[in-house]
Amino acid sequence: MLTHLSELIADAKHSGYALGAFNVDNLETTVGVVRAAVQKKSPLIIQISERTIKYGGLKTMTAMIETMVRDEAGNIPIALHLDHGRSFRSIAECIAAGFSSIMVDNSDVPFKENVILTRQSVEYAHKKDVWVQGELGVVKGLEEATPEDREKFMTDPDEAKQFVDETEVDTLAVAVGNVHGIVKLKKGLPQLNLERLEQIHKAIPEVPLVLHGASGLQTDQVKATFEHGIVIVNLNTELKLEYSNSLRDTLIGHPEYFDIRDILTPPTDALQRVVEEKLMLFGSANRI
Ligand code: 13P
Repeated sequence: MLTHLSELIADAKHSGYALGAFNVDNLETTVGVVRAAVQKKSPLIIQISERTIKYGGLKTMTAMIETMVRDEAGNIPIALHLDHGRSFRSIAECIAAGFSSIMVDNSDVPFKENVILTRQSVEYAHKKDVWVQGELGVVKGLEEATPEDREKFMTDPDEAKQFVDETEVDTLAVAVGNVHGIVKLKKGLPQLNLERLEQIHKAIPEVPLVLHGASGLQTDQVKATFEHGIVIVNLNTELKLEYSNSLRDTLIGHPEYFDIRDILTPPTDALQRVVEEKLMLFGSANRI
C-alpha cells in the first residue's frame, strides 16, 4: 500500500533498520522492485528522477506505480519519492501528483543560496503534508569523483546543523565519500568517511540521514552507516547494470526471441533479485 514516508521512517528508526530507495524508470523496473518488496515482506521507497519524468511522463509513471502498488503490494508499505528535484516546477508537480516526499537538490550552489531555495520548497511542501529531503555537501558523480573532490565536498557537521535549523528539512542527504554512478565500479570502490558521518549524526541526531550513491559500496561499509544515522539508502546504477546486462545476455543468448515479454522477463527477474539482496542487507526484510 502506498504509505507516507514519515510512517516508514518512524518504523525504521524504532526497529533499527534502513530503507532502500530504488530508482525505477518503466513498467518492468517497477515490477521488479514491487515484487521484491512483497517477496521479502519489506517496506521500501520507490523514487523517480526528473529525467525519468521526462522519459515516461509524470502522470503515466505515477499512475503506473500507484496502480501496481495497490494491486500487487497488499499491506507492504511503499512510499513514493522524487529523487534529485532541481526545478521548483517538478517539485510542485510531484507534490500535486501525490508524492509523500521530494528531494530538493541545490547542493551545487553556495550554502546561503541552498538554504534559501530549500526553505522555499519546504514551506510549500509542508503546507501539503509532504516531506522534504535536502542535500548538503556534494555527492559527486561519474568523471568528477576524484578522491580530492570527495574530501573537499564532504558535508560539514556544523553547517548541517545550521542547514537543518534554517530550512526545516525532514531528511538530509550527506556527502561522506560516497559518489553516484558507475565510474567507481571501474576505478575501484570508494571508502566512506564514517568518522565524518558520526560527527554529522551527533550534530543532528533526530534527522534521518540519506546515503546516496550506494551502488558498488562494500556491504560492511553500508551496514556501518546504520550506526551513524543513515536511515535511507539510495540505489540506482546497480539496478540499471543488472537489468541491461541481463537484457544483453537474453538477446545474445536467444536470437530467436521476438516477443517483448520473453525478452524483458529475465532482466526484470534479475533486477528483482538484486533488490531482494539489498533488502536483506538493509535489515528491512521480514518486517511486515
Ligand atoms: P547510485 O547510482 O550510485 O546507486 O546512486 C543512486 C542515487 O543516489 C540516486 O539518488
